[in-house]
Parts: sequence; C-alpha cells; structure tokens
Amino acid sequence: MGVYLKAAGLSKFGKSDDKLIYKIREAIENMDADLSEIEAVYLGLMNPEAFTGVGNIASYVTDKVGLSGVPSVRIETASSTGAAVFYLAYAAVRAGLYKSVLVLAAEKMTHLSTPKVTKIISEVIEPSERKTGASMPSLAAMCARRFAYDNNISENRFTDVLAEVAIKSHHYGSLNPHAQFQKDITKEKYMNSKHVAEPLRLFDCSPISDGAAAVILTSEKTDITVAGVGQGTDKQALTKRDIITRFTSTQKAAITAYNMAGFGPENINFAEVHDAFTPFEVVGLLDTFLLEPKEVEKFYKNKEGYHNGKLPVNISGGLKSRGHPVGASGLAQIVECYRIMTGKYPKEITPEKTDIALTQSIGGLATNNFVTILKKTGAKVKPLPEPMVFKEPIIKPVKDKKYRIFSATRLYTPPEGFDSPLDLVILQRKDKLILARSVSGELPKIGNLVHIDEKIAGSLIVKKDDIFQLLGFKKR
Ligand code: COA
Repeated sequence: MGVYLKAAGLSKFGKSDDKLIYKIREAIENMDADLSEIEAVYLGLMNPEAFTGVGNIASYVTDKVGLSGVPSVRIETASSTGAAVFYLAYAAVRAGLYKSVLVLAAEKMTHLSTPKVTKIISEVIEPSERKTGASMPSLAAMCARRFAYDNNISENRFTDVLAEVAIKSHHYGSLNPHAQFQKDITKEKYMNSKHVAEPLRLFDCSPISDGAAAVILTSEKTDITVAGVGQGTDKQALTKRDIITRFTSTQKAAITAYNMAGFGPENINFAEVHDAFTPFEVVGLLDTFLLEPKEVEKFYKNKEGYHNGKLPVNISGGLKSRGHPVGASGLAQIVECYRIMTGKYPKEITPEKTDIALTQSIGGLATNNFVTILKKTGAKVKPLPEPMVFKEPIIKPVKDKKYRIFSATRLYTPPEGFDSPLDLVILQRKDKLILARSVSGELPKIGNLVHIDEKIAGSLIVKKDDIFQLLGFKKR
C-alpha cells in the first residue's frame, strides 16, 4: 500500500515563553488541514520528563489538540525522535492499521540553563563515557577532528569547510520565517566566535531550541509519496565502534531507504541532513552516498550545497540555524522538504529540481539513525540495477602497544557538575579506543604518544585514581 504526505506544518523555532503544547498546536495550525479523519496520533518527544516534567504525554497532547479518543503513542530515539515517529506512523499506515495518522514531534528546552540542558542531552551517551564529562558537542568535535586527520585535511582547510557549512546554514536561516537564527554570518564572525568544543565554535553547533512539527500521513493518494524509509543503529559507546569518523548507522538506514524506494543516490534532487554540528552535515552527505570524501572541499568551496548548486543541502537553514528542539528536528526536516516540493518556498531559493528529497536524522551520537526519501507521485527515476549492499568499513589493524592520541578536544560548555574547560581525549592502543579526561592543561595532538603509568604523568595523567576509574583499568 502506498503512503503519502497530505499536509505538513512547523511552529516558529527558537526561544519561546510558550508552553510545549502551544508549540504543538502552532505546528498543527500551520498545516492548515482538516483533522476530522485522523485515526491515530503518533507523537515524538525526546525527553519531556526531564525538560518539562510532563509524563504520560501521548494522551495529554492528544487530548489538548482536541483528538481525545483516538489511539495515541509516544516514540523516542534521542535526537532522531522526529524521524522515528514518522517511520513508525508510516509503518502503521502501510500495514493498513490506519488510513490517516497525525504525526507530531516537539521539544521545549530553552527555559533551562545550557549546563542543565547539556546534562540532559548527555544522558544519551553510554554511561561509562558520560562519566568523563563528555557531551554531544565534545564527542562530535573528536569525531570531526579525527575525520579531518584521516582524510588528510589540514586544520585550516577543515575550518574553511566548516565555516562554509555555517555560513550557508545562516544564510538560509535568514530566509526561513520559522528559523531561530535569521541573520547571515561572515567568515570573520565565524572565526571570532567562541570555541564550544575545539575545533567546533559557536557557529558550528545547533542551538538549544523550542519548536514543533506536524504532518499527516495517509493511504489516500496525494502529490507526495513516501518512497523509502530506513533505520540503522550502532554501539552506544563511541569507543567500542569499528569507526567513529563515519556513521554506519546512517549508511545502513540509507541503504534500506534506497532499496525500498528502488532508486539510488543519483536521483536525489536535494537533502536535509542532520547538521546538529557542522561536520555532521559533511559526514551525513558521505554516509547517504551523496558525496565522496575527495569531493568535500570542492563541494563547499564552490557552494554546491546552495539552492542553485549541484546538490542543495539544508536550504531550510538546517538544525544549525532553524534550530534543534531535539525531538522535533527529524520531522521538521520532512516538513521542510514537503514545503519545498509543494511550492511553498520562495521561488528565488527553490531548487530547479524538487522531484526527490532525502532527509537524514541522527539519534544520540549516531546510535539510532534514520533516512527518509520523499518523491513527487509519478516522478520519473533511474531505478537501481540491483539492491545496494552495506559494506563493513575497512579497518587498518594497529599493532602499536603504546597509547596514542586518537582524538582530543577542549570542551568549554560541560554538563552540569563539571568544570570548564574540560579536556577529553580518545586514546588508541592496538585496536582498542579509550575515552579519558586529560588534566595536563595542554590539548594533545592526534598521533602523539602517551605514557600510561602510575609513576609517569606523561602529558595526560595527574589524578591517577580518577583516570584509572575512567579508563577502566585495574589498580595494580
Ligand atoms: N549558534 C549561533 N548562535 C548561538 C548559538 C548557536 N548554536 N547558541 C546560542 N547562540 C547565541 C545566542 O542567541 C546568544 O546571542 P545574543 O547574545 O545575541 O542573545 C549568544 O549566542 C549566547 O547564547 P547562550 O545561550 O548564552 O550560549 P551558550 O554558550 O550558553 O550555548 C551552545 C551555546 C552552543 C553551547 C549551546 O547552544 C549548545 O549546547 N548547543 C548544542 C546542543 C546539543 O548538543 N544538541 C543536541 C545535538 S544532537
């Protein structure tokens, strides 16, 4: 059975005094749709218990939007929640359970302080890694730094790429009435912005936001078809993964979505990818097979991600500028694609071709990711000659018995309960990665050797007990 998008709406994103339920109602009103045929409500919220203290939220919201009586569930997969709720609502319509489902996704965060929000968000991180004070920006920073190192992109050139992502996001945010940030930024402003987690600056990070998104999924034929959906998970602990510079969870989700759609990446006209941090836009494009690593620098230098470029990406402003109410973003991306495909964007920034769109959403530090492909009903595609197959990453074996710095960051906005700045390192020994806190006062370079010994502080260890605990070593 075909599944179609019938309507889509967003609330204004950003800092708001409104309660969560008002944001949800605003998104529903902005759909401008009749709710009389809705048979179920699927609701996505990442952590309303911690952010707002509201529990039993599915029936609460369903009641407050005037649909009490219809079945309602709440779904959560960390920061990909909005995509997850769409995915499961899609499954319910496709299975024939309901003809018409109201899909909602939202979060209310801005009434809390940054350290408090950071602490709540950090709960998505593996407990043993979270003990170090690691937060999402710090883990993203370490993945990004290693990505540049592995791809032979110097720090300066990598900064150029990230700055281009940020400048593009802010440019399109300035044109999106729903966006939290509606001002262009210059390279100079980017370079002068404070570091959040080195090398990531303020303008590399999505903000703390309030906002909601709404769509109606239906079995009744409309102009926009859900062509493919896919989901992939990965190990919760970053240091237990085969690779941290690319996200296999996205790759698996993308392959499933392409195979379901029956066509491959060359058909995608534009994309909304999860740019919670600017390097995630880059990696998102690679993991959805829309870009090759060797093309990255040229793609951004030549502004190929703009609405008139080779592959428009995040021309809504993305999570970076539209804002990132964590539970809402995955669905907001779908709303933006729907708006672009149905001619609701200003003509001046609508890409030439809008037949097929891809969205990619990251949950946690890429532990539960989704890819969704939308297509104008009846649009022509180049079919896949054969199904795409996931290829395990090729890992070079490391024989070195010494500890080396695999990646490192200095975090200036740690979770509540940790002091700033907080230095974090990922160490590599043989094939094992270890996340630790560094108290040397100096941010070590990737590849540097580190001595781990009770007597030798090296550049890393001062508080031995803590470090032993953090590294998970047995005390001699
Ligand atoms: N990008 C651009 N500007 C931002 C911003 C961002 N991400 N975050 C805040 N600002 C602006 C504010 O609007 C404010 O501007 P003003 O002085 O003109 O009013 C200024 O910067 C200071 O804002 P403040 O809220 O005090 O910043 P902060 O340092 O407390 O928080 C971050 C900034 C980046 C640390 C915070 O937004 C953050 O933690 N983001 C990541 C959230 C996250 O991890 N999400 C989940 C990812 S999956």
